Amino acid sequence: MTQRFEVNPGGRIAGTIRVPGDKSISHRALMFGALAEGETRISGFLPGEDCLATLAAVRELGVGVERPTATDVVVHGSGYHALKAPARPLDMGNSGTAMRLFAGLLAAQPFDSVLIGDESLSRRPMERVAGPLRQMGAQVATTNGCPPVRITGGARLVGIDYRLPVASAQVKSAVLLAGLQASGETTVHEPAPSRDHTERMLQAFGVPLRTAPGAVTIAGGARLKAARVDVPGDLSSAAFPILAACVAGAGDLTLENVGLNPTRTGILEILRLMGADLLITPEASRGGEPAGTIRVRATRLRGVAIPPALVPLAIDEFPMLFVAAALADGVTTISGAEELRHKESDRISAMAAGLRALGVSVEERPDGAVIRGGTLRGGTVDSKGDHRVAMSFAVGAVAAAGPIEILDVENVATSFPGFVPLMQGIGLGVTAGG
Ligand code: S3P
Repeated sequence: MTQRFEVNPGGRIAGTIRVPGDKSISHRALMFGALAEGETRISGFLPGEDCLATLAAVRELGVGVERPTATDVVVHGSGYHALKAPARPLDMGNSGTAMRLFAGLLAAQPFDSVLIGDESLSRRPMERVAGPLRQMGAQVATTNGCPPVRITGGARLVGIDYRLPVASAQVKSAVLLAGLQASGETTVHEPAPSRDHTERMLQAFGVPLRTAPGAVTIAGGARLKAARVDVPGDLSSAAFPILAACVAGAGDLTLENVGLNPTRTGILEILRLMGADLLITPEASRGGEPAGTIRVRATRLRGVAIPPALVPLAIDEFPMLFVAAALADGVTTISGAEELRHKESDRISAMAAGLRALGVSVEERPDGAVIRGGTLRGGTVDSKGDHRVAMSFAVGAVAAAGPIEILDVENVATSFPGFVPLMQGIGLGVTAGG
């Protein structure tokens, strides 16, 4: 039976919390630890299903991984020439990041590998990564453009100069990971900045990169040296309690140790444009990733035209922004966000359908939506198995006119283990049921 959330509106959202570790950084810490020589110690690791899929895949490639606690991981790498052929297909579960980054990482290896995923991942586009890898000389086959992805080992890769058609940190990272193992230099140009965790972490592992505005270059053959990685809290997870505190009748919430990488903070800029009361206190950055404290107090939000330039910097927060828009005064316009249709669900369609079920007027567009703000009424919404869709409706329910039931919420465990107790602890009337 699929799980559901029931959320009663009202209540005060308050307290001081920490959200689980950053998903993007946790994946990369495991992968780069596997490619490096020596012992990589990771603290603050996200024990969500997506990152556990990456952990299992790293072990399947012959790399020793210990997990002394749920959030501490030690990776015993021997360099990328020491990876072993996996005995079975590598199961990436729900994770697009795991599949696309592993495609790049494995493209130059001497052995064959097959990457598979769950039903949602099996519908997601993989040619965007297979295309540039083939240009480098890799033998990569997709299944009608989607997973399973089959890599035939033994190809000799050559560096390329690649222009990303859409801003994508996953594709950028895959090409850089292949470029690391290719001859010559590989340059990736982006049409707009996307998250730069790969660039920061490669440098922390001792790999020199050349960066220019909109471009990054890696030379093939560099060796990674094991490093310590302190993973900050995931701003994309923090976004949910932040919204709850913003739109609650009374709210005053402090979130400690949240990642504040400027390629991720578009959500904070957009919420500020909408009138949110946010106090951000940066702390000294550790391991190249900035972090800090965010205090949020309840306030009335107003509708805005979200600047398209901020879309890649807040790409995972759009489900939550649809709900923010529905609760704001006035009209919010989202444009330049066609990529949302290729996430864990078609997030434009899932959010528009869910909001309509709660009485909100939404005009769906190919690259976004126009949302007329006001109130959410009680009702039932289908999360389409998408973790961020489920959590967005759950936190928006604090300000709804009646209880909201959210269906098909199991996948919340992919990115935010402990979501329900954490949210209950700050005052959200949420319960999980079968
Ligand atoms: C991610 C990149 C983004 C984001 C995803 C995580 C990453 O995807 O949506 O949740 O860790 O590189 P795209 O590269 O498809 O934009």
